[in-house]
Amino acid sequence: MKIHRVKSAGQGQALAAELFAGISDESPDCPVGLATGGTMSGVYSALATNGFRPKFSDAFALDEYQGISPASENSYGNELTRKFTEPLNFQGKIHVPGQGDYAGEQGPEEFEQAITKLGPLSVQLLGIGVNGHIAFNEPGSSFNSKTRVVKLHQETIKSNLVYFDDPASMPTKAVTQGLSTIKQASKLLLLVFGEAKAFALSKAINNPDESTPLAALLDHPGLELITDLNY
Ligand code: GLP
Repeated sequence: MKIHRVKSAGQGQALAAELFAGISDESPDCPVGLATGGTMSGVYSALATNGFRPKFSDAFALDEYQGISPASENSYGNELTRKFTEPLNFQGKIHVPGQGDYAGEQGPEEFEQAITKLGPLSVQLLGIGVNGHIAFNEPGSSFNSKTRVVKLHQETIKSNLVYFDDPASMPTKAVTQGLSTIKQASKLLLLVFGEAKAFALSKAINNPDESTPLAALLDHPGLELITDLNY
């Protein structure tokens, strides 16, 4: 694993934007993998500030709440439209698990097939949850997991509830790429900032097991960690 130590989240997000642009520009025929959440918002703003224009034509989202309306502000697909497609004038397609072509029971399998057909992804952006989840692969997820519907853990519901105006509307399930799906990307850019994530990062690196989904990715030759933490 290559490690980039940075002084702040902002510096790390700017670096991630630079790396993402360079890698994706080098392989314009390959799709990319996009993530959502506060950490990624800063990466997308940095890309927009730099005037980055995507050369790739397909992007795959990591995860989505199960059954959420694509019109909801809390939909990750919707978030990517607002934070990636619109500011970067992206003319291609963002494939979102559980939405559009990938809704319905066969959706996760069809999403996997689309990655296989269009992939490999040149680069996958990744964050981590406070409880160590990667995408929505919660602690205990199989390292061989594929795209599937999962139940969110209580800690995840608690930490993501703040984003929902009406807490009762928060889905308790999600559709997520699996850990082995994520591993198919040629490069993984993992961004981890802030003390709240320190335990999840240090446990995965110093004491890895199935309770630490990140451990599944540690032997990936293209893994690059960008962090402001000492672990
Ligand atoms: C969500 C997403 C993850 C993301 C995590 C961290 O739960 N499913 O893919 O990595 O949150 O988000 P944040 O960057 O807001 O801390």
